Amino acid sequence: MKPAARWWIVVAVCGISFAVVFTGRIPFTGRIPFTGRIAVFSNAPVPPTLSVSHVTPQSRQLSAEPRDPASPLAPLSQPTFTRDVAPIIFRKCSVCHRPGEAAPFSLLTYEDACRHAAQIDVMVRRRLMPPWKAAGDFGLYSNDRRLRDDEIEILRQWIAADLARGRDEDLPPAPEFTQGWQLGEPDLELTLNEPFDVPADGPDIYQHFVIPTGLTENRLVSAFEFRPGAPEVVHHSILYFDTSGRGRELDSQDPRPGYSRLGSPGFEVGGSLGGWSPGGSPRRLPSGLGRPLEKSSDLVVQIHYHPSGRPVSDQSRIGLYFAPPESTHLVTEIMVANVELSIPAGANRHRHHAELQLPVDTILFDATPHMHQLGREIRAVAILPDGTERSLIHIPDWDFYWQDSYCFAEPVELPRGTRIELDCWFDNSDSNLLNPNSPPRTVTWGDFSNDEMGICYFQATTREWNDYVTLHTAAKQYFAELWEKYQQRVGTRQLTPE
Ligand code: HEC
Repeated sequence: MKPAARWWIVVAVCGISFAVVFTGRIPFTGRIPFTGRIAVFSNAPVPPTLSVSHVTPQSRQLSAEPRDPASPLAPLSQPTFTRDVAPIIFRKCSVCHRPGEAAPFSLLTYEDACRHAAQIDVMVRRRLMPPWKAAGDFGLYSNDRRLRDDEIEILRQWIAADLARGRDEDLPPAPEFTQGWQLGEPDLELTLNEPFDVPADGPDIYQHFVIPTGLTENRLVSAFEFRPGAPEVVHHSILYFDTSGRGRELDSQDPRPGYSRLGSPGFEVGGSLGGWSPGGSPRRLPSGLGRPLEKSSDLVVQIHYHPSGRPVSDQSRIGLYFAPPESTHLVTEIMVANVELSIPAGANRHRHHAELQLPVDTILFDATPHMHQLGREIRAVAILPDGTERSLIHIPDWDFYWQDSYCFAEPVELPRGTRIELDCWFDNSDSNLLNPNSPPRTVTWGDFSNDEMGICYFQATTREWNDYVTLHTAAKQYFAELWEKYQQRVGTRQLTPE
């Protein structure tokens, strides 16, 4: 990637993270609007089994195989594409390596695989493909994309020998990918009101589009799917909801479709549904659970466009999937972070610590770590009241360009009083090729391209309604305190540098 292009991406992602942090990832400020559901919820029996069977994996295609790391590899005389290689590629690569998806070429046929064999060999043996950054055994996360050792060995042998094609009858059926919506027809489909023109070049654009949901009743959202209209220019998107009407006001002041803003939507949003980036697959919350979406709210979609060299027009679509009516449990989001960050110029392994204590028994579904380009390593650990340690996420080799949510295969239940400890390590030396400052300078918390962050988000719920209210309130309070501290630190610095 050309340095200039990288730089823009750096700017862009930082802007997004800013928005994520300081405009309210925690849904529903103030009252809990689901009065109808509170009664149901408070009387609801404890969900009998929040077990792996309830967790819909991030991608059906990727999960359709047993997670047995030890499946012994019978020595292969001579691996062939049709018998040995195709099953691996279809299952682990084609989901992104096919037309219209994130990867730069398709891996769907023998010819595709041969054409890229040398690259595949390198990427797979170095474990750079499929992209996956979290450490830990297979089975920990339901969306684990990694190849097992024996699968890598098959690919290696096949490439080292002579790329044998094999017998046609051995070829498994081509993988079937749902065209369009991956989770099926959404319950509510929303489209940008008008197409947005992205010029051939120029700086990256952050545009916010306000789309009325038209919902006449409160709903619980089980999943969302973002489908870029022009995938070549859509770099990221984040979905917020707005019940204040501020989004509409800002939109009406900007003559173009939507309104432009760097970093955040420009007002305190009602919550976020999360973000999308290329390669991201939609996933449902476990059954019985949902993120609250208030009636008549607007969806505010932040899209980061990265001009591609030719003018295009984008009209992205969003599908919302509602939790079934019998769902009774709400999901909120907690974050662990510490804005009192100062990374000395030249420090090549600066450690930064943050923590949060859970006020109630809590169930976590996933972990989404986030740092910028000085980030080298990030780790979140739960310290239970009895002293037991439980690893939640560990990314030993942080890659700014591959950020992801890691879904626990088995929801993680943590007792009240558990401390979630987050440690981040940063490299602010000259030898970090991604260091945006040359020479390095002291770097602090913030949303700009040469600031840093170290955060982990978790989607969370509780078994009891009262506990949910406590957790949700505590999460909001935690966020408010961080915001306050951040404001004090930056003084008069503007949030939207326009
Ligand atoms: C989650 C999506 C995803 C999956 C799954 C995936 N890839 Fe990729 N792959 C990409 C993207 C995106 C790129 C473009 C380079 C980048 O952004 O890092 C890429 C690039 C590559 C490249 C070119 C790297 C280079 O720069 O030379 C190879 C080779 C490759 N992938 C092989 C594979 C193989 C083999 C598998 C399966 C075992 C696989 N990929 C699975 C998304 C994916």
